[in-house]
Amino acid sequence: MNSALLKAHIAGIGTYVPEKILTNFDLEKIVDTNDQWIRERTGIQERHIASAEQAASDLGVIAAQRAMKNAGVTAADIDLIIVSTVTPDMLFPSTACVIQEQLGITEAPAFDLGAGCTGFVYALVTGAQYIATGAYRNILLIGTETLSKVTNWSDRSTCVLLADGAGAVVLQPGAADGGVLSFTLGADGRGGKYLFQPAGGSRLPATMETVQKNLHLLQMSGPEIFKFAVRKLPEIAEEVLAKAGLSISDIDFLIPHQANARIIEAAAKRLGLPMDKVLLSIAKYGNNSSATIPLAMDDALKAGRIKNGDLLLLIAFGAGLTWGGVALRWTKTD
Ligand SMILES: CC(C)(COP(=O)(O)OP(=O)(O)OC[C@H]1O[C@@H](n2cnc3c(N)ncnc32)[C@H](O)[C@@H]1OP(=O)(O)O)[C@@H](O)C(=O)NCCC(=O)NCCS
Repeated sequence: MNSALLKAHIAGIGTYVPEKILTNFDLEKIVDTNDQWIRERTGIQERHIASAEQAASDLGVIAAQRAMKNAGVTAADIDLIIVSTVTPDMLFPSTACVIQEQLGITEAPAFDLGAGCTGFVYALVTGAQYIATGAYRNILLIGTETLSKVTNWSDRSTCVLLADGAGAVVLQPGAADGGVLSFTLGADGRGGKYLFQPAGGSRLPATMETVQKNLHLLQMSGPEIFKFAVRKLPEIAEEVLAKAGLSISDIDFLIPHQANARIIEAAAKRLGLPMDKVLLSIAKYGNNSSATIPLAMDDALKAGRIKNGDLLLLIAFGAGLTWGGVALRWTKTD
């Protein structure tokens, strides 16, 4: 990164998961599965599920309010809102605009960004560019998902994985030796067929037939994504570190997207990184897409594991296929 540009720091973080918890034992009553299979094959024990009334914006608003409080900023301070979601309230207006209204923020530009489960990393990198140029000084980034609303609850290969939740951060400019140090982003549209929601867009608008065929629900080729992720995550990590002139041994914590504990363990092994340097929160949250990284980060902060000056490596992959990583020096003082 150009050293003349400003560095983007996380000045505040907030998260929210819906109250309702769905355990593996609950799932045993819905599909042909069992707790042992889910735990051993995915690392998930339970997940949070939104109520019928809760949309992505509702989760995002609570996470955003907590992040703003944590950063010590008010609605009047926010000058840009970026929301990452694959489960927007509606196709339009953007969920960012819905959240803007609910937070009482007026006039700040607001837009959604779609990069599947890499969305939080894409949003962080995007926000960091506006900070770097000095265009905006208080950016609200929100990853919010209600995957349960697009889950096929009769498909055991996907319904045991998916979950709901939200995470938000406030980005501000800060000291040159901290914040976002380097990043990488990528995409390969040829892999779009491995994880998608066939109907509901302009390709296949909603009809009685699309609904009857469950085409508005998420479809996934699990083993294809698994192989891709295990290969890609270590590459992302090495690329981001090299760009910052750092190496694996410099990492204090790896914060990967939480899709399957076995993917994360395989990536850590390939990198030669011990698991005590990997923040894992999948057991209690499952895969809530753009929210997994801020949730893992917030849990570790609350547990006092992340300290000032720590080098955090955020890496993710998702629908698109997309991927991305950020090396971040943690600098928040309180
Ligand atoms: C989906 C995933 C958990 C499946 O695990 P897997 O070890 O690859 O399992 P397979 O798909 O090879 O299936 C193995 C067997 O388990 C069965 N199975 C699948 N889901 C099951 C479940 N929930 N409970 C019990 N058995 C299940 C399969 O039917 C298959 O049975 P068979 O051998 O009789 O055909 C795994 O592929 C995965 O996590 N992929 C990545 C998904 C991902 O990251 N998605 C998000 C991207 S952001």
